[in-house]
Amino acid sequence: MEKRRLGKTGLDVSVLGFGCAPIAYLKADQPSAAAMVESLLDQGINLLDTATSYPGSHEFIGQYLSTRRHDYVLVSKCGQKVAGIDAPAWSAQVVAASVDLALEQMKIDSIDVMLLHSCDLETLKKGEALDALIRAKQAGKIRHVGYSGDNQAAAWAAAHPEIDVIETSINIVDQNNIETVLPVVREHDVGVIVKRPIANACWKDLNEQKGLYRTYAANYTDRLAKMGITPTDLGFDAEPSEVWPMIALRFTLSQPGVTTAIVGTTNIENARKNMSYASQGPLPEAIIARLRNAFKKADPNGEWQGLT
Ligand SMILES: NC(=O)c1ccc[n+]([C@@H]2O[C@H](COP(=O)([O-])OP(=O)(O)OC[C@H]3O[C@@H](n4cnc5c(N)ncnc54)[C@H](OP(=O)(O)O)[C@@H]3O)[C@@H](O)[C@H]2O)c1
Repeated sequence: MEKRRLGKTGLDVSVLGFGCAPIAYLKADQPSAAAMVESLLDQGINLLDTATSYPGSHEFIGQYLSTRRHDYVLVSKCGQKVAGIDAPAWSAQVVAASVDLALEQMKIDSIDVMLLHSCDLETLKKGEALDALIRAKQAGKIRHVGYSGDNQAAAWAAAHPEIDVIETSINIVDQNNIETVLPVVREHDVGVIVKRPIANACWKDLNEQKGLYRTYAANYTDRLAKMGITPTDLGFDAEPSEVWPMIALRFTLSQPGVTTAIVGTTNIENARKNMSYASQGPLPEAIIARLRNAFKKADPNGEWQGLT
C-alpha cells in the first residue's frame, strides 16, 4: 500500500485509510467489524478515523484495537456537545473533557491527531476550542491539532500555524474544496484526510442506501444525476456499480495535496476492493478533466459547496 507523508506531522500514512462512521451508525456486528479492520491493518492500512460523536466508536477501538496501537495512526474529533459533559459545544471545557474521555474510552495514552469536528469559521476564529486543543497537545494527550470541515472555514484553518491536518470532503460530486482548500494546504504543508471520498456510493439507488445514509447521501445522489455523467462517458465499458467505486476513489486520490482517503464500509469484500483500487494509481488526466468539467457544467455558479 502506497504511503504519503501527512503534511508537517511527518507521519507516513497509507493512501487508503479507514473511516469508522458506518460501523458506529449502522450498528455493525462488533467482532466481525473488528476482524475486518484487523485484516486491513494486516494488509497495510495504517490510519483509522473516528470521532467522539460516532456512537460507541471509541469504545469499539478500546475493546478490539487498543492492543494494536502501534499499527495505526489514530485520528479522532471533538468539540461538539457530549452527553455527560456539562459544557457547551466548542467551549474549552468540552474540548478538554472530550480528549480525556476519548483516551479513557480507547484505552490509550495519546491520540495522534485530534480534529475540531466541523465548527463554523466564526467559532474557529474565536479561538477558545482551538486553544483548548493546543493545550491538550502541550500536555502530551494529543500529538497533532487539526480541523474537520469544508470551504472557507477549512481554508482558514489550513493556514493557521498550529494546525497540521485538515479533514475535508473531496469526491466526484463534491469538488469545491479542490479549489478552496487544497491550494492552501499545499502552501502550508498541511496533511489532508479526505472524508466521504467515494461520495457515499451515490451512484446507487437511494433506497439501497442503509439506515441514515438514505438521507445523508441524498444530496450527492442528486448532484450525480445533474452531472449526467456515466462510466461509459469516461471510457469504461462495464456495469456502472462495478466501476464507479474505482473511478471515485482514484479521482479523489489523484488530487494534488490529498494524503489519504478514509472510505467507510461494513463490507469486507468492498474494503478489499478499495485496497486494489487505491493501488492502481492516479486516474488518467483526461478522465479527471471530464469529471471536473461535468461538475462545473452542472454547477456553473459555484453553489455546490463542500458538504460536511
Ligand atoms: N468529519 C466529518 O464530519 C465526517 C463526515 C463524514 C464522514 N467522515 C469520515 O469519513 C469516512 C468516510 O465517509 P463515508 O463513510 O460517509 O462515505 P464514503 O466512504 O464516501 O462512502 C461509504 C459508502 O460507500 C460504500 N462502499 C465502500 N466501498 C465500496 C465499494 N468498493 N463498492 C461499493 N460501495 C462501497 C459503503 O457501503 P458498504 O458498507 O456496503 O460497503 C458506504 O455506503 C467516515 O467513515 C468517517 O470516518 C467524517
